[in-house]
Amino acid sequence: MLAPTVAHLSFVRDDGLPLDYIPGQFVQVHFEYADGTPTKRSYSLATIHDHTLGAGESVEIAVSYVAGGAATALFEGLEDGGQIQASGPYGRFCLMPADANQRYLLIGTGTGVTPYRAMLPLLEKQMAERGIEVALLFGARTPEELLYGDEFRAFADAHPRFRFVPCFSRELPAEGSPQAHADVRHGYVQQFLAEFAPDPGTDIAYLCGNPNMVDACFETLKGFGLPVPQVRREKYVSSK
Ligand SMILES: Cc1cc2nc3c(=O)[nH]c(=O)nc-3n(C[C@H](O)[C@H](O)[C@H](O)COP(=O)(O)OP(=O)(O)OC[C@H]3O[C@@H](n4cnc5c(N)ncnc54)[C@H](O)[C@@H]3O)c2cc1C
Ligand SMILES: NC(=O)c1ccc[n+]([C@@H]2O[C@H](COP(=O)([O-])OP(=O)(O)OC[C@H]3O[C@@H](n4cnc5c(N)ncnc54)[C@H](OP(=O)(O)O)[C@@H]3O)[C@@H](O)[C@H]2O)c1
Repeated sequence: MLAPTVAHLSFVRDDGLPLDYIPGQFVQVHFEYADGTPTKRSYSLATIHDHTLGAGESVEIAVSYVAGGAATALFEGLEDGGQIQASGPYGRFCLMPADANQRYLLIGTGTGVTPYRAMLPLLEKQMAERGIEVALLFGARTPEELLYGDEFRAFADAHPRFRFVPCFSRELPAEGSPQAHADVRHGYVQQFLAEFAPDPGTDIAYLCGNPNMVDACFETLKGFGLPVPQVRREKYVSSK
C-alpha cells in the first residue's frame, strides 16, 4: 500500500510479449460485474520509463480504492500472483517531441500524479538538453497520501530546475518532519497557480486526476491566457 487506500500494483504480461508505452499513457482493465456484464476501467502506467520495456518487465499502476467500486473489489481480492485481463497502452497525455516551451506545469491530484512519475526520465533529459524548468503541483489530503512523495522530493533535490510543490487539502506535515519543506502549501492546487505566473509564451500545462480539479485549473490557466492546446488534460472518470 502506498497510502491507506492506494495500492501500488506490479504486473508482467503472461504471453511473453513486451509492453512498451509512452509515459502518460494508460491501460484498460477488463472484467465482469457480478451479473456477467463486461466492463472496464482505465489506469495510468506508473512505471518510471527509462528504457523500452521488454518482455517480462514489470508494468506498474497505482489504484485508489473507492468505497463500493467494482474494480476496487477486483483489485482488493487479487492474490499475489493473481491475473487480470488488460489492454493498451492508450492515450495521448504525453510529452510531445515538438514542444518548444520553456516550462512544464505538471498538476495532479491523488493517483493522477502517476503519469508524472513515469515521465521523470524524459523530463530529466529535457531539463539537460533544452534547459526547461518543471513545476509539479501535487494535491493530496494528508502527508500519508502523498504518493511517491519521497521519490519526487529526491528528484527535486537532485534537479534544481524541478520544483515539487505538495498541496495538502487537510493536514500539513508536522514541523521538523522529513516532509516539511518550504515548497509545501495548504489548500487545493489551483489556489497556488498564480504563484507560478503562468505565461502563454513559455508554459505548457498538464492536468490529471480529479475531474473538478482539472476543470478548475483549466479555467484558471485560460484566465492567464494559456490557449487550449497548451493545457493537456486527463480526467479520472469511471468508464462504466
Ligand atoms: C484515462 C484514465 C486513467 C485513470 N487512471 C487511474 C489511475 O491511475 N489510478 C486510479 O486509481 N484510477 C484511475 N482512473 C479511474 C479508474 O478508471 C476508475 O474509475 C476507479 O478506479 C474507480 O473504479 P471502481 O470500479 O473501483 O469504481 P466504480 O464502480 O466505477 O465507482 C463506484 C462509485 O464510486 C464513485 N467513484 C469512482 N471513482 C471515484 C473517485 N476517484 N472519486 C470519487 N468517487 C469515485 C463512482 O461515481 C461510483 O459512485 C483513471 C480513469 C481514466 C479515465
Ligand atoms: N479521508 C478520506 O476522505 C479519503 C481518503 C482516501 C480516499 N477517499 C475517497 O477515495 C476516492 C478517490 O480519492 P483520491 O485521493 O484518489 O482522489 P481525490 O478525491 O481526487 O482527492 C485527491 C486530492 O484532491 C483534492 N480535491 C478534491 N476536489 C478538488 C477540487 N475540486 N479541486 C482541487 N482539488 C480537489 C482532495 O481534497 P479534499 O478531499 O480534501 O477535498 C485531495 O486533496 C474519493 O472517493 C475519496 O473521497 C477518501
